[in-house]
Amino acid sequence: MKKIYIACDHAALHMKNDIIGYLNGKGYDVDDLGPYTPDSVDYPEYAQKVCNEVVKDKGSLGMLICGTGIGMSIAANKIKGIRAAAVSEVFSATMTRKHNDANVLCFGARVIGIETAKMLVDAFIETEYEGQRHQRRVDMITKLEEN
Ligand code: RB5
Repeated sequence: MKKIYIACDHAALHMKNDIIGYLNGKGYDVDDLGPYTPDSVDYPEYAQKVCNEVVKDKGSLGMLICGTGIGMSIAANKIKGIRAAAVSEVFSATMTRKHNDANVLCFGARVIGIETAKMLVDAFIETEYEGQRHQRRVDMITKLEEN
């Protein structure tokens, strides 16, 4: 089973806790990297915590939740080796695994409800990268990190 690293900001504490409970219930090994209180925090710090682990732990996946999912995804994509996707529907959560080999899922607690969030998480975890023709393009993304 894939290891999951998760974090949020103050806008998404409840949703993060609900998603952790949901994933634990399914038997996933989830590492909660915070925050643990509702105090205001800065989402780039939490994006960095999750992404550092995902980069180190090959085959693991990250989940980042803020108000929109957008700030988290912008921050996460600055980190070498991270392909983060901010999504709010299942089709994109599935396709970003299949075609982009995304390793971090971002979503917004102010955008979607918990039932949609659970569906996104399921789709993201259960879908495998297709490789083949997509690998050349993913390699091109990796090259962009070097320039
Ligand atoms: C916090 O108010 C909010 O800006 C943050 O959660 C996120 O939506 C940023 O993209």
